[in-house]
Amino acid sequence: MVSNPESSPSDADPVDNARRYPRVTSFRFRRGALTAGQQRNWANLWPTMGRDLRVDGQSEPPLDAATWFGRQAPTILEIGSGTGISTAAMAADEPELDVVAVEVYQPGLAQLLGLVDRGGLTNVRLIRGDAMVVLNELIEPSSLTGIRVFFPDPWPKARHHKRRLLQQGTIELMADRLKPGGVLHIATDHADYAEWITEVLDNQDTTKTHVVALGDVSRAPISLERPTTKFEGRAQREGRDVTEYVFTRAEATSAAANGAES
Ligand SMILES: C[S@@+](CC[C@H](N)C(=O)[O-])C[C@H]1O[C@@H](n2cnc3c(N)ncnc32)[C@H](O)[C@@H]1O
Repeated sequence: MVSNPESSPSDADPVDNARRYPRVTSFRFRRGALTAGQQRNWANLWPTMGRDLRVDGQSEPPLDAATWFGRQAPTILEIGSGTGISTAAMAADEPELDVVAVEVYQPGLAQLLGLVDRGGLTNVRLIRGDAMVVLNELIEPSSLTGIRVFFPDPWPKARHHKRRLLQQGTIELMADRLKPGGVLHIATDHADYAEWITEVLDNQDTTKTHVVALGDVSRAPISLERPTTKFEGRAQREGRDVTEYVFTRAEATSAAANGAES
């Protein structure tokens, strides 16, 4: 159990009914200038490979992955792709899958554009904006084959726990967006966040679509092989363990199907 009495995984702000997603702002506003190379990538590649979320607060048109990628293929959403090291390496290993990377940090996205370009990858697209909006407004229920969340910001202070990306409402939303059999793959190097995530996963409302540990990970429909990123390398050097979760969508229990209150 998470021992901090000030906050718990169920402390998330209430669901915003107008938008229907938990109001979690899990990212920091980070300024970062693009290098000259990144500016070139942005100018040349973003118009076709990237999409910005609207800034006027209007609802977003749904993601039409088949048109954007020019093919029908299983789709993976990576939340908080950072500089895209994992995104590009895993996409190169899985050319049969399409990967949508969501990140708010423009220099990270620009770096990923460069990796995609240099690697000749055709199966990566990028979205700049809040993954919560993406999950809620752009992604249809039961549409994703995988969701990846690698090293989410741990928000270590108790008063910031409500900003953690992974909490009850957001996990529920992720479960809903996965296809049956789809996989939620999480990694963290933060021991307290790992405990928190375990607690969230253990305490899901099973009368709603939820996720359960994937018993036989060799049956995962997506690769689980991650390269070692900057974050993981630092964790290893500093002696911190990485905790990894591989979960899969499970349907609501019969209590819900029978009309029980949830
Ligand atoms: C600690 S970094 C990890 C980056 C990368 N996954 C890695 O393993 O190297 C977490 C990243 O998640 C991004 N992030 C956090 N919340 C987000 C959100 N709601 N939508 C999009 N990106 C988010 C942050 O901007 C940050 O770049």
